[in-house]
Amino acid sequence: MKELVERAEEVSKRAYAPYSNYHVGAIVRTTDGREFEGTNVENAAYPLTQCAEKTALGAAASAGYRPGDIAAVAISASPCGGCRQWLHEWRVPQVSYRRDDGSIATRTAAELLPDGWNLPG
Ligand code: THU
Repeated sequence: MKELVERAEEVSKRAYAPYSNYHVGAIVRTTDGREFEGTNVENAAYPLTQCAEKTALGAAASAGYRPGDIAAVAISASPCGGCRQWLHEWRVPQVSYRRDDGSIATRTAAELLPDGWNLPG
């Protein structure tokens, strides 16, 4: 997964992050081999900012993919708490990201969000 994380780092260069200057990139790989890229997209009303993982998963969703259709997600940074909920919903079996110490971690969405919440019913 090192190669996919390195490519996510390339994608991060296209982030729109004029407020934080913190550029994040993500690549979603589907089980049938397609890939969707995303970056963080910030907004002057700061809480409206969109994370890179959500941009990439949103692109996959917009192309018709659904939870269970995702093989892997690579991110240039450790996913935030909210994005872990997205990765949980999408049941991503392999999430790889660059840690602050420079190493690469690979986890399941369930490992990233123990006892993840699901809508009852
Ligand atoms: N960010 C992401 O894109 N993904 C994460 O999982 C962590 C945070 C972005 C949001 C914001 O544009 C910037 O990082 C700094 O918070």
